[in-house]
Amino acid sequence: MAFYLLPRSVYDMSVYLQYYKLREAPFNITPDPRFLFFSRRHQEAFDHLLFGIRERKGFIQLTGEVGTGKTTVCRRLLEELGPNYKTALILNPFLTAGQLLRAIALELGLPTRRTDRLSILHALNNFVLEQVNAGNDVVLLFDEAQNLTHELLEQIRLLSNLETHSQKLLQICLIGQPELRDKLADPSLRQLRQRITIRYHLSPLTRDETAEYINRRLSLAGANGTPRFDDGAVHRVYEYSGGVPRLINAVCDKALLAGFVKEQQVLMEDLVKLAIDELQGDHA
Ligand SMILES: Nc1ncnc2c1ncn2[C@@H]1O[C@H](COP(=O)(O)OP(=O)(O)OP(=O)(O)O)[C@@H](O)[C@H]1O
Ligand SMILES: [Mg+2]
Repeated sequence: MAFYLLPRSVYDMSVYLQYYKLREAPFNITPDPRFLFFSRRHQEAFDHLLFGIRERKGFIQLTGEVGTGKTTVCRRLLEELGPNYKTALILNPFLTAGQLLRAIALELGLPTRRTDRLSILHALNNFVLEQVNAGNDVVLLFDEAQNLTHELLEQIRLLSNLETHSQKLLQICLIGQPELRDKLADPSLRQLRQRITIRYHLSPLTRDETAEYINRRLSLAGANGTPRFDDGAVHRVYEYSGGVPRLINAVCDKALLAGFVKEQQVLMEDLVKLAIDELQGDHA
């Protein structure tokens, strides 16, 4: 396996892309919505969020294991919503309650010169009412919500109190790893839990979907028949990743690199095995 330990220059992305005639790297691990493959479950997750927001259901919860595609779905959703939706996506939940309100205000494009909590809250309330009167909707999305403290979750619940007799004026999506469910099960958060009317748990891809996912990403990156992963290779990728997209990307990226080194456009099981060894640090 020594061939695999090549000098850094060989890892140059442009050479690797040139060899495979690809426009861009097919297995990046950034949550790029252009690459979103709508497996049945990703479609359902997307539809639940969209339905909850459009139907003004108030609180919506999306959970899923690490790396299953929650952030990607969420970014795709923001693209879908269009100009009548004023959205704030909060990615970093390690904030104080005051910072959280400021982050929301900033994301919504509100001036945040007055920094005390009450003024920001006041400005946010006014903004929401204004927008609703103008026929718009305001949507707050909290990613990594499993890391929100009880205090922050309580602050978010208080924000949601803005409603008329007939409808919620603010739609709030809590997106996070399965720990979010455990957190919300705490009796002290029952008021919040009772307000969540739409829930979805995103599971990893099936074996067949893993094959489709790989092909889709390759073709979006410009592949035209090759490079491709044969059945044995896909089987190995699935076995290793359990259908979790981030793990699929990591192993496929490494396998492509190995294929480039070995000059193989059709990737077979042995290359995937090498990639897995490399990822697990077993190549020495
Ligand atoms: N359905 C999908 N189609 C295409 N790519 C996907 C899909 N799901 C996930 N990915 C890719 O997998 C990687 C991980 O996805 P993402 O960051 O959205 O996962 P996550 O659930 O938010 O993870 P975490 O729990 O760590 O926050 C990204 O590169 C993303 O583009
Ligand atoms: Mg994420």
